Amino acid sequence: MGRIISVLTFCAVLAFSCSLEAHAEVTAADLAKYDLASGEPVYNASCKGCHATGIMKAPKTGVKADWTARLGQGMATLVKKSIDGYKEEGLMPARGGDPDLTDKQVGDAVAWMVKQIL
Ligand code: HEC
Repeated sequence: MGRIISVLTFCAVLAFSCSLEAHAEVTAADLAKYDLASGEPVYNASCKGCHATGIMKAPKTGVKADWTARLGQGMATLVKKSIDGYKEEGLMPARGGDPDLTDKQVGDAVAWMVKQIL
């Protein structure tokens, strides 16, 4: 009996942690909140220079393997890091180095990039 209960507890914990992950993972539904048509020209003007070639370890646009692990952070985090800029393996400049971009434009560009591998 104790064994059945511990198996059940294990399953419940597993299901719970999976649902937490599923929550952060970016899905097509998350992208619906963004304007992809507005994101594409922003991408071409301000992001493509690094993300098309993967210069300085930038995740390459359209290359799923470069993005899979990143998607687990969720859209809000991906967008925030793109607005603020960050440094892990390479250097992602704040707003792709274009201070004139609005938060919405950066978010739309991130969504357009993510859409290329979903
Ligand atoms: C000067 C080159 C450069 C430009 C321009 C650039 N990026 Fe990046 N980006 C990078 C690099 C390098 C990384 C990876 C940084 C690291 O891992 O330290 C990155 C990472 C990212 C990530 C992944 C974030 C994460 O948490 O994994 C997103 C999303 C992103 N960039 C969006 C954008 C958007 C949107 C633009 C245009 C507005 C843009 N980038 C312009 C170099 C650039």
